[in-house]
Order: sequence, then structure tokens, then C-alpha cells
Amino acid sequence: MIKKSILVTGGTGYIGSHTVVELQQKGFDVVIVDNLSNSYREVINAIEKITNIRPEFYEFDLCDFEKTHSFFKKNKIDAIIHFAAFKAVGESVEKPFMYYHNNLFSLINLIKCANEFNVKNFVFSSSCTVYGQPDELPVTEKAPVKKALSPYGNTKQISEEIISETVKTTSLKSISLRYFNPIGAHESSLIGELPIGIPNNLVPFITQTAIGKREILNVFGNEYNTPDGTCIRDYIHVVDLAKAHVIAVERLLSNKNKSNYEIFNLGTGDGHSVLEIIKTFEKVSGVKLNFKFVERRPGDIEKVWASTEYANKELGWKAEINLEEMLLSAWKWEKAINKI
Ligand code: NAD
Ligand code: WQD
Repeated sequence: MIKKSILVTGGTGYIGSHTVVELQQKGFDVVIVDNLSNSYREVINAIEKITNIRPEFYEFDLCDFEKTHSFFKKNKIDAIIHFAAFKAVGESVEKPFMYYHNNLFSLINLIKCANEFNVKNFVFSSSCTVYGQPDELPVTEKAPVKKALSPYGNTKQISEEIISETVKTTSLKSISLRYFNPIGAHESSLIGELPIGIPNNLVPFITQTAIGKREILNVFGNEYNTPDGTCIRDYIHVVDLAKAHVIAVERLLSNKNKSNYEIFNLGTGDGHSVLEIIKTFEKVSGVKLNFKFVERRPGDIEKVWASTEYANKELGWKAEINLEEMLLSAWKWEKAINKI
């Protein structure tokens, strides 16, 4: 049988690289496009080490229409998984134009080319950020999309709208996957999250504090309306997330989708507070974490976790890796990149 060829944009990035591994292990041919604006070429070697297959790699900016077009001219693609985007919420507030430009032009160029070159299957990286603070928990896919709290969040909302409008008038079929909080790393410790500069996200900040790169973890707020006063999130292991992408692609390729645009939450369905994350990390790593409570971080949501019912039922997918394993894998990764 001829192997299906999957274009993974942002495939050297954190979630993209783990998805490339899962796709290759399921027998797909993978072509990566990434401009390395937030990742490294070495990731290709690491992927090859894990799977024994070197993914094809093209380095260019998807905002460049000519380059994107000539890529599609040269390569026969069956489906696209579009990860490439800027993702730092705080930076997007400081540089909104950069975020709208990068996240929207890359999407528009890809969709234009998908239509012209008859690529019908498109999986999009969305985010639970589109829900804001939901009125009901766990939050289902039917919950209203609330006014975005950042330009980054707004790019995800606009992107979802662009896709949902496009599928009405073209032969494109799409699935948007709304991730909750991806954490952890591949069991090989060969790929993982590589935050550039000071991490914004909780888990990389925890592991960097534990290893001594950061002096102290600031816990943003301890008087929220939650059992221990700290914010609650739905943390999901990146490999569970990656596996859901393979299922989404297979669903589109085999025309099992129920409509031309489907949306699924990707979370575990369990909420954990910041203090629970710290305690669990201390337990699995054996390291006592230096932390203090500080002011709330502006724009933070008090609590959010996913309803996973729809993804469980329709995709036949369920997150399998528990919190201890997630945090242990993040810790092993931190030690691996520091060669400890
Ligand atoms: P990442 O930064 O590690 O990966 C994104 C990759 O895209 C990087 O390798 C970067 O170099 C590349 N890229 C960015 N703009 C590009 C462009 N114009 N052309 C070519 N390549 C480009 O991020 P990630 O955590 O792997 O996130 C992947 C996707 O998932 C993003 O769309 C992000 O918004 C979304 N998402 C991430 C999270 C999270 O917490 N990590 C949560 C929800 C949604
Ligand atoms: C988690 C919790 C913080 C750092 C962000 C984006 C969201 C999505 C996922 C892409 C919060 C607390 C954090 C620290 C802390 N990304 N915290 N000290 O804010 O849920 O979501 O990443 O789509 O759009 O906004 O994740 O990891 O930053 O924070 O106390 O140094 O940890 O207040 O409660 P968040 P996070």
C-alpha cells in the first residue's frame, strides 16, 4: 500500500516533534516544514534516533506564499497538521501585530495551497484559551467562545473561524483540536519542550527551578476560589496529545468525520491546582521546590478542565498518562538537556 504523506508544520517544535514520532510509528510518511523560529534543527536527528526514520525537512516561513506554493508544487501531500504558530501569551500582548501576522498569514497561505493542490484534510492546533473562564465545568466543545484575553488567543479564535468558513465553500475537511495544558516529554528524553529564555509555563519553570537554573518559583495567587486557593488546569501529557493527532488524521483520511469541520477538546478531564502540581513534582523527583506566593498574573483563568466525553466517544481516544508520569517525564527531560 502507498504510504500517506503528512505535512507537519511546526514539526520541530514541542508538540509537533512528538506527533511526528507517533505518525512515523504508525507508518505515515512525514514531511516537516518549520522556520526554526522557536525550535532547533537537531530535533530532526532526535526524531530519527527514536524512530529510525529521518523525516523530510524543509526550512522556510509559511508566511512566505511563494515558498509555500513551491513546496506544494514539489510534494504530494495527503493531509496537513498545522502546528506552526507563535504561542507566548504575554509576548502577544506586547507584539500583537507580530502574532496576527505570523499565525494568520501562515494559516491562510496553507489553506490557499491546500485548495489549489487538492489537499483535503487539515488538522489545526487550537487551544482551550478560546473558552476563557467557562461558565460550566468541565467545559464541553459546545461552550461559547468568549472574547479573547490576548492577541494570541484571538489568533486561535480567528483561525477557527477562517477554517469553519472555508470548509463551507471548498472541498477542505478539518478538525480543530483544542489542547488544554500540554506537559512532559517523550520517554526517550530525546525530545521535549525547549523554552527559549525564561519559561512562561508552570512545568518548565518548576523543572528549571528544581535543577537550579531559576532561584525560586513564583506561584501566581493563592486566594482564588478553589480548594487550596491556587488556579486549576487540565494538564495532559504531550504524547497522549500527539496520539490524538494521528487519530484525527486517520479519521479525515478515511472520511469518518461526521461533518466537514469538527472540534474536539484534548485534555484528561481532571483539574489540578498549582500546589498539587508542586507537591506531585516534589514526590516524583525527590527535590524540594523553592517557591513563594506572589500577586495574581493578569489574565489568568481561575479554573478550567475539559469534558473529554466527545473525544473519548467519537475519536475513541483517551489520555492514558497520569500526573506523576507526566511530571517525572518532564523532570527526566530537564536532567537530560542539562546532562545530569
Ligand atoms: P512550539 O513553538 O514548540 O512549536 C511551533 C513551531 O512552529 C516552532 O518550531 C516554530 O519554529 C514553528 N513556526 C512558527 N511560526 C512559523 C512560520 N511562520 N513558519 C514556519 N514555522 C513556524 O509550540 P508548541 O507548544 O509545539 O505548539 C504547537 C501549536 O499548538 C501552536 O499552534 C500552539 O499555539 C498550539 N498550542 C500550544 C499549547 C501549549 O501549551 N504548548 C497549548 C494550546 C495550543
Ligand atoms: C498554569 C498555572 C499560572 C507559571 C497557557 C496559555 C494557554 C495555553 C497553555 C496555548 C496558572 C500558574 C505559571 C509560573 C505559576 N497555551 N503559574 N507560576 O496559563 O494555563 O495557559 O498555556 O494555547 O493559551 O495561556 O498555562 O503553564 O502558564 O500556567 O503560578 O511561573 O500555573 O498562574 O495557574 P496557562 P501556564
